Amino acid sequence: MIELAPSILSADFAHLADQIHAAEEGGAALLHLDVMDGHFVPNLTIGPPVVASVRKVTRLPLDCHLMLDNPDEFIPVFADAGADWISVHQEVCMHLHRSLELIKHHGLLAGVVINPATPVETLTDILDVVDYVLVMSVNPGFGGQKFIRHSLVKIAQLATLRAQRGLNFRIEVDGGVALDTVTDVVRAGAQVLVAGNAVFGKGNPKEQAQLLIKAATEATWQQV
Ligand code: DX5
Ligand code: ZN
Repeated sequence: MIELAPSILSADFAHLADQIHAAEEGGAALLHLDVMDGHFVPNLTIGPPVVASVRKVTRLPLDCHLMLDNPDEFIPVFADAGADWISVHQEVCMHLHRSLELIKHHGLLAGVVINPATPVETLTDILDVVDYVLVMSVNPGFGGQKFIRHSLVKIAQLATLRAQRGLNFRIEVDGGVALDTVTDVVRAGAQVLVAGNAVFGKGNPKEQAQLLIKAATEATWQQV
């Protein structure tokens, strides 16, 4: 099943509840919240208070993508703020297994993220622990960037490994997912599709979400 995860990074923050409700009406399965620290990535965004406010206006699961140098320090506060899924970057976690266990300890789904330059092979020994793997298809930090096509190879590699090892983690993709790339990411094997600019940067979020879900669903039919 395909799940659309609109990223509020491209939403109008002055009208966030309305924007979220529009995406929800368009069929969003979860909401993607991009947390950036100005160190690991060259941008600053939201923190726990915004997550807590969003928690009050939607029942959608909140998927918190932590782009932080020190995610372990913040996992408990994001859990308290109402996160349902938390992902951490492989590149900053010295003790990745410990970070993932900490997320699970709070009763949340635990994900690991890999940047465009990080090989899938770095996850070989952790795949049986994760609930989802997030493949970055842009360099993290900003919305509206161009999709990096090599990420399709990485998605397909993960889907193959998952089948070979009988695992059932979800594969999520983040960056440049739009009407012109959604078919390829679904065919490669992604189930959770993050889309910021494609949902919130083009006018009516409800309609844009519907269009993306339609295209993604059609791509799954073509897979069979
Ligand atoms: C980028 C973020 C993304 C971003 C995607 O660092 O992780 O979630 O919002 O935006 P689009 O879909 O516009 O590429
Ligand atoms: Zn993200």
